[in-house]
Amino acid sequence: MKDQVMIITGAAMGLGYAAAEALAKKGAKLVLVDYNEKALKEAEEKLKSTYQVEILSVTADVSKEEQVKNYVEETVTKFGKIDGFYNNAGIEGKQAGLTDYDLDIFKKVIDINLMGVYYGMRYVIPVMQKQKFGRIVNVASVGGIRGVVNQTPYVASKHAVSGMTKNAGLEYGKDGILTNAIAPGAILTPMVAEAFKQVNPDDPKVAEAEYAKRNPTKALGDPKDVGSLVAFLLSKENGYVNGQTIAIDGGESNMYGNPE
Ligand SMILES: NC(=O)c1ccc[n+]([C@@H]2O[C@H](COP(=O)([O-])OP(=O)(O)OC[C@H]3O[C@@H](n4cnc5c(N)ncnc54)[C@H](O)[C@@H]3O)[C@@H](O)[C@H]2O)c1
Repeated sequence: MKDQVMIITGAAMGLGYAAAEALAKKGAKLVLVDYNEKALKEAEEKLKSTYQVEILSVTADVSKEEQVKNYVEETVTKFGKIDGFYNNAGIEGKQAGLTDYDLDIFKKVIDINLMGVYYGMRYVIPVMQKQKFGRIVNVASVGGIRGVVNQTPYVASKHAVSGMTKNAGLEYGKDGILTNAIAPGAILTPMVAEAFKQVNPDDPKVAEAEYAKRNPTKALGDPKDVGSLVAFLLSKENGYVNGQTIAIDGGESNMYGNPE
C-alpha cells in the first residue's frame, strides 16, 4: 500500500484505530479524522512512534456537512488523491425500548451513523471518480442485518448504511470504485465496553462473559481482526467485491435461537 492514501473516520480509538494500525503496517499514508481532538492527537503520536507513517489529522464531526467537506478538501490539498475511505465513525446511543427512546438521542444517532456516512461518500466519491479508482468501506453492524433489542435508532441507521452501500456499489462500480460495508458483531472496543456497562452497571465483565458464551466461537472479536478485513477491502487486492455487507462476528448472525 505504499503511497496509497487512506482516510479513516473515528480513527482515535476502537475499530478506526485498529484499521489505522493495519494500514500503517502496510505502508499507507493516513488521514485520521475524529471529533475527539485529544484522543486523535494521542492516536497520531502512538502510530508515528510505532510505524514509519505519514499522517494528516483533521478534527471533524462527521455529522456536520461542512466539516466533512473540509476533511476531504484537506486530504486532497495535502496528498492529491484518496485511494481508500474507511467510513467508520459511529455511536451506539442509549439502550431503551422503541416507544420510550429519547428523541434527541435518536436523532443524534441518525445524524452521526447515517448522515455522517452519507456526507462522507458524497464528498469522497467525486474525488475517486476523477481518479477512476477508489475503495470504500462503510461500517454497518450485525444491527444492520438483524434487529437488536433496545437499540432502534442504531439498528435503523446501520440498515441504512447497508442500503446506501448497495446503491454506491451499483452507481459507481463503473468508475472503478468498489464500495462495501462490514457488519461487526461484538468486538471489544470502548463502545462495546460502554454497552456492557449499561447492561450490567455493577459488573460489566459478567455481561461480557454472558455475551461471549452465545457466540459460536465463545469469544468476543478482536479489533485487529476487523482491521485486517478492512485493509483487504480497501486494497487493490479487492478487485471484485462490491456492494456487499460482510459480517465479521464469529458466525453469530447465522444463528437461529441460542444453542449453548
Ligand atoms: N465494536 C463493535 O463491536 C462494533 C460492532 C458493530 C459496529 N460497530 C461500529 O464500528 C464503528 C466504530 O465503533 P467502535 O466500537 O470502534 O467505537 P468507539 O466508541 O470505540 O470509537 C469510535 C470513534 O469514533 C469517534 N466518533 C464518534 N462520533 C463521531 C463523530 N460524530 N465525528 C467524528 N468522530 C466520531 C469517537 O470519538 C471514537 O474515537 C461504529 O460505527 C460502530 O457502530 C462496532
